[in-house]
Amino acid sequence: MDELPVNTIEANRRMGHFEDRDRVWLFGYGSLIFKADFPYIAARPATIRGWVRRFWQGSHDHRGTPGAPGRVVTLIQQEGATCHGMAYLVTPEEFAHLDHREKNGYLRFATEMTFDDGTTAEGLVYIATDDNEAYLGDAPEAEMARQIANAAGPSGPNRDYLLMLAEALRNLGAQDAHVFGLERHLFDK
Ligand code: BEZ
Repeated sequence: MDELPVNTIEANRRMGHFEDRDRVWLFGYGSLIFKADFPYIAARPATIRGWVRRFWQGSHDHRGTPGAPGRVVTLIQQEGATCHGMAYLVTPEEFAHLDHREKNGYLRFATEMTFDDGTTAEGLVYIATDDNEAYLGDAPEAEMARQIANAAGPSGPNRDYLLMLAEALRNLGAQDAHVFGLERHLFDK
């Protein structure tokens, strides 16, 4: 695969309608759950409604290479679904750092999130939609697991990403048949 021409940093900056606030909630559902390498004011387990986590985004710059992309998670709309994650309260400046870290096709969207005590907040979430060039979409579970088992990139093996995400979800007490199903395949081999 040739180098992917588009990154989303500029698009994200244009979508920065929370920048007049001095702190913003960011909902993390993937690596942000187990790797929060940025300063935050508070972290709270949270859920968002109407979305499911799926390993449908290709990663050629973090957990794979252009020739052998890995798979990382994005969110897919599904009525009635609940997605568990971790919410971080951050200053708007953190988004410049995060836009760079997540430049491989993710855009920021506004979302409502619900904390464990039932209170809610409006915040942001990064989602890779199906029109970005790195998007891979659905595939048979065994095929996705094989791709994850074999891919590695500058951030490390794709397999570690899956295992760390599964462990973090268990620590949150979250059910996720998609993630845990892929994890089981890794150990079948
Ligand atoms: C997340 O954990 O929410 C996330 C991480 C990387 C890219 C997009 C989202």
